[in-house]
Amino acid sequence: MSLVAHSLSFRYEKTDPFCLENIGLELHPGQCLALLGANGSGKTTLSKLLIGILQPEKGHVSVDGQNLAGLSLAGIGEKIGYLFQNPSRQLFCSSAGEEIGFPLQFCGLDPGEIAERTEHLLHFFGLDHLRDQFPFTLSQGERQRLALAAIMVLDPPYFILDEPTTGLDPRRREELFYYLQKLIKNGRGIILISHDHCFARRLASGILELKEGRLQEVDPGC
Ligand SMILES: Nc1ncnc2c1ncn2[C@@H]1O[C@H](COP(=O)(O)OP(=O)(O)OP(=O)(O)O)[C@@H](O)[C@H]1O
Ligand SMILES: [Mg+2]
Repeated sequence: MSLVAHSLSFRYEKTDPFCLENIGLELHPGQCLALLGANGSGKTTLSKLLIGILQPEKGHVSVDGQNLAGLSLAGIGEKIGYLFQNPSRQLFCSSAGEEIGFPLQFCGLDPGEIAERTEHLLHFFGLDHLRDQFPFTLSQGERQRLALAAIMVLDPPYFILDEPTTGLDPRRREELFYYLQKLIKNGRGIILISHDHCFARRLASGILELKEGRLQEVDPGC
């Protein structure tokens, strides 16, 4: 069981040099890997390759032994929860409550259970009072929490979170830290992309850094 990048190389244009070259990584259940790197180093690009939004020119990604290229987007969504760097991109429903409950409608759950799970996450992320609000009227931090709630609701085995602490105040950041720590203890695997190195280093057991298109391991103690 693992999410694996097998020697990925990628460039946006055929005439460009590779922006990511020969990238290999392996994420296991119960593990958190932090992915660090300067602005423009390719963190978001790598995350999109890992979730199948972009396709590598060389190499492939597998999740629990299955090649990602052979899975539908819905199939990938059951395995990997993805938080976009800009969470507004993944909000599309007419209310915050619906945004969380929507993915559950495809799982054959009865309306009572959908409502229960939705309420639990609305409450956990401090969004109870906003359940009927249009997502685009929420603040940046509220939208970030809503997008997180909407990917947590399906309880996938792996998560890729691109800058999950953006827009969160220190209290919310700390709550998220403990929530993610609990997910890891419960066997979920997380790739955490963050400019908040302190947050990332506290949570992750392995630190990876992208530099000049290559991925390297970093000593967690540094
Ligand atoms: N859609 C695109 N088309 C062409 N080039 C792109 C595209 N998206 C990103 N790039 C380029 O690819 C490189 C890597 O960008 P990427 O967004 O993956 O970096 P990042 O590490 O996530 O940066 P940040 O820390 O600012 O989020 C950059 O040079 C960027 O300009
Ligand atoms: Mg990015």
